Amino acid sequence: AIRGPALTFTGDPFQAGLEDTLVYESDAIVAFGGGLITHFGPAGHVQPQLPADLAITSYGPDALISAGFIDSHVHFPQTPMIAAFGEQLLDWLNRYTFPTERKFADKAFAASVADVFLRENLRNGITTSCVYGTVFPQSVDALFEAAERLGMRLAAGKVMMNRNAPPDLLDTTQSSYDDSLALIRKWHGRGRLMYAITPRFAPTSTQEQLDAAGQLWDAFPDVYMQTHLSETTREIEWVSELFPGHAGYLDVYDHSKLCRPRAVFGHCIHLTDDELHAMHCTGSAIAHCPTSNFFLGSGCFDLYRAMDHGRPVRVGLGTDLGAGTSFSIFETLNAAYTAAQTHGQALTAGHAFYLATRGTARAMYLEDKVGSIATGMEADLVVLDMKSTPIIDYRMKFAEDIHDALFIQMIMGDDRAVQATFINGICQHRRNAN
Ligand code: GUN
Ligand code: FE
Repeated sequence: AIRGPALTFTGDPFQAGLEDTLVYESDAIVAFGGGLITHFGPAGHVQPQLPADLAITSYGPDALISAGFIDSHVHFPQTPMIAAFGEQLLDWLNRYTFPTERKFADKAFAASVADVFLRENLRNGITTSCVYGTVFPQSVDALFEAAERLGMRLAAGKVMMNRNAPPDLLDTTQSSYDDSLALIRKWHGRGRLMYAITPRFAPTSTQEQLDAAGQLWDAFPDVYMQTHLSETTREIEWVSELFPGHAGYLDVYDHSKLCRPRAVFGHCIHLTDDELHAMHCTGSAIAHCPTSNFFLGSGCFDLYRAMDHGRPVRVGLGTDLGAGTSFSIFETLNAAYTAAQTHGQALTAGHAFYLATRGTARAMYLEDKVGSIATGMEADLVVLDMKSTPIIDYRMKFAEDIHDALFIQMIMGDDRAVQATFINGICQHRRNAN
């Protein structure tokens, strides 16, 4: 068990307000066993219910226990190319991304990157992510093998891509179907691992390949489907040339039956009202990737428009490395705050922390398993240090309440604010210990 101040959410503050959804306990105990949370509440209330000899790790008053962070959109093969200079999306793919992803034909290389990637996840308190592999199935095997050793709840998939990329990075409709099917059979539901059917984005697939993705999903309806949607205006124009006769970009995916619950669409910056409505009606989710959108100059996602009460769309947070620039959820939330400001909206810290935990769990239809601290939930937890740098320590002296304190973290914090990360009830990262 662990003890310290704790924060969690019982519902969606975008719909129900923070007062009714944010739970803050200044001195809580979270107890877990067998990978699940068994007790959560004020220390004075929980302690008498625990066996007298149970070890309790106490984190001081400057700590904060939260559900682990969730990343709904990230490319592990791009870890070696974060901060590649000077291009926007389509040129960036050709100039940096494809040459890097080519190296993942080598499984040993893929395994070495998977180790760095997962270690960075843990160092940043990310306990679940939805991950793109490369076109090579062995790159996905390497990631799943590493995640399995850690007992992580993680979704991933082999990129399907049969045109508009270098020839040695292309699959075919048939081989992409067969390879994805074999990976589903091997990995989906093994421990906490989950498969995501992964057509890269419409420009690199024929409609025939997108149809094959939809058919594969019909056969395995509880896996995920992840792709990119309406990230840049040039991309949208290209899609309208490649797929004439469609109502829009989303319609290309919908035509192949790819708009359903557990569909995670990256970016979605330039959606029309009709497309947002369709996302709502089909239960599809958006992965908001603000550091990436700034880095590639793609645009500013309008979070509050997507969350509109008339037809709210499920929105999760994504780092989108390596177009995204940081594994840090704080830096990602800082960028989400800035993106919202450009649309005249101030993202409160409470809403932001919801987004990073339960909100993204909900976008992935996982909110009954991860994303909040409650009895029966999986024991994926992060312990934050609220005074992780001299200037944050100084600034915190003037914090008036938990909302202030959280906002300081999301604007000023980084990986140094992550003190410990628990996966499945086991401490897998301790700051300064590795
Ligand atoms: N669109 C298609 N592929 C990619 C990718 O790897 N990163 C981003 N940001 N957008 C994409
Ligand atoms: Fe992406």
